[in-house]
Amino acid sequence: MEKRGVLYSGKAKSVYETDDPDRLILEFRDDTSAFDGKKVEQLARKGMVNNRFNAFIMERLKEAGIPTHFERLRSDTECEVKRLTMIPVECVVRNLSAGGLCRRLGVEEGLTLNPPTFELFLKNDEKGDPMINESLAETFGWATRQQLQLAHELTLRVNDVLRELFLEGDMLLVDYKLEFGLFHGEITLGDEFSPDGCRLWDAQTREKMDKDRFRQGLGGVIEAYEEVGRRIGVNFD
Ligand code: ATP
Ligand code: TYD
Repeated sequence: MEKRGVLYSGKAKSVYETDDPDRLILEFRDDTSAFDGKKVEQLARKGMVNNRFNAFIMERLKEAGIPTHFERLRSDTECEVKRLTMIPVECVVRNLSAGGLCRRLGVEEGLTLNPPTFELFLKNDEKGDPMINESLAETFGWATRQQLQLAHELTLRVNDVLRELFLEGDMLLVDYKLEFGLFHGEITLGDEFSPDGCRLWDAQTREKMDKDRFRQGLGGVIEAYEEVGRRIGVNFD
């Protein structure tokens, strides 16, 4: 597949067109951002680590029957994906309280959430990714009721698969964000799954092993991402 011009450059990845109108190339850069792009830094090796991490997770999800955009790794920092029409809504599941939930509701961090919660946010940095719901998404035409229902179901199925996978590596999957799109009308998991878009804690010590290390200036960000990967069997060599 031949790489063509850049279609879109986001905060952490660049998206390239190819000679196949149905395929794109995602390039994972070393750029790291938080607080809707207000804190930005370059972290060496991050592009490679997240690209391989994401490939590993997408393969596990595919095996579990989740429709994903992932096709194959292309290089250390690139992968080939199906070209989706993205739905501008972020689906968030929480197994334990942290981050925005604690800030919004004033609850302490680390409470077990049973059943896990499901929230929707509008993907819009300028507006600070505001929280929305199914009714708003349907009325404003961001997604249909049926698409939202499917995205909800798939997001919870991903939770069953990944909670188990991380627990086997002695980690707790605290929360995560997924983005979906349409491939010839079919709801398909897009974007990435990496420690940039989820929270993972060591199951024994509850040490943070995800992007909160960057948000909170704790250091050792990429070392933690690599440790998470090693524990579940990702190959970074
Ligand atoms: P955020 O960090 O909030 O996700 P961003 O837009 O800055 O925002 P990046 O990861 O840097 O995020 O950019 C990747 C972009 O590519 C995102 O807008 C994402 O929705 C889009 N994207 C991901 N997968 C696909 C796909 N298969 N087809 C089309 N667009 C995609
Ligand atoms: P949340 O706690 O709502 O926000 P914050 O990260 O600002 O504290 O986020 C829940 C999880 O979803 C967390 O692992 C980060 C991820 N997430 C993103 O990666 N991008 C987003 O735009 C949103 C809303 C969440």
